[in-house]
Amino acid sequence: MTNVIFWGKYGVTSGRVGNDHLHIYRSACVRSIKRMRKRSLIPVALLVVFGAIQLVPVSRTNPAVVTPMKWDSEETKALADRACMDCHSNQTVWPWYSYVAPVSWWIANHVNEGRDKLNFDDLTAVRREGRRKFGNVANAQGEAGEGNEAGESTGTAQGGGARAAKIADEIKEHMQHGQMPMESYLPMHPTARLTEEEKIKLIEGLSKSVAATLGQ
Ligand code: HEC
Repeated sequence: MTNVIFWGKYGVTSGRVGNDHLHIYRSACVRSIKRMRKRSLIPVALLVVFGAIQLVPVSRTNPAVVTPMKWDSEETKALADRACMDCHSNQTVWPWYSYVAPVSWWIANHVNEGRDKLNFDDLTAVRREGRRKFGNVANAQGEAGEGNEAGESTGTAQGGGARAAKIADEIKEHMQHGQMPMESYLPMHPTARLTEEEKIKLIEGLSKSVAATLGQ
C-alpha cells in the first residue's frame, strides 16, 4: 500500500492505494505523457512541411513588354491598372504573400493563366488558346511553325482588327457577367472593385486601346 496524490477530474486528492491500482495509475500517466509528446510533434511536423514547400520553385516572372499599350486615355490606364493589369500584363505587382507557399502557387497560377489568355503587354502573342479565340495576327515573332499551319491567316492588318474586336467582346462579356476582375482578387485589392460607371468606361476604353495597339 502506498500513499499517492491524484490529480483527477475532481481536483487533487490523496489516499492509500494497493499496488495494482498504483500500476494502473502509473501506466495511465506514461500513456498520457506519450500522447502529449506525440501531440507536440504535430506543430513541428507542420512547420517542417511548411518550410519544405517554400523550396518548390514558383514562376513569378515579369517578361519584357512586347506591345506597349496605346492607351486611349489616362483614365482607362488607371482603371486597368487598378483592376486588370496584375493578371493580364507583364508588369505584375507581386505582393509579399505571393512569395509564401502555398498561396504563391495559387497566385502565380492565376497570373500565368490570365496572361496566357489575354496579355495587354503581348497582344500579338500567338497562343494555342488565344489564337483559337482571338484569331491569328500579323506577327513576326509568332511561335515557330505555328503560323504556318494550313488554313491560318499569316496575318495582315485585317487580322489585327478582327482580333481586337474579339478581345473587346471577351472583355465586355467577362466584365458584364462580373467574372472579371476575379472575385478572389478583390479582398486584398479593394481598389479593383469598380462602380458600374467605371466598368462601362473601362470596357469602352480597353476596346479602343486594344484596337489602337493592334494597329486599327
Ligand atoms: C487575379 C487575377 C485576374 C484579374 C485581376 C483579372 N483577371 Fe481576367 N482572367 C484571369 C484568369 C486566371 C483568366 C482565365 C480563366 C477564366 O477565364 O476565368 C482570365 C480570363 C480573362 C478573360 C477571358 C479570356 C479568354 O480568352 O478566355 C478576359 C477577357 C479577362 N480575363 C479580362 C479581364 C479584365 C478586363 C480584367 C480587369 C477588369 C481582369 N480580367 C482581371 C485572371 C484575372
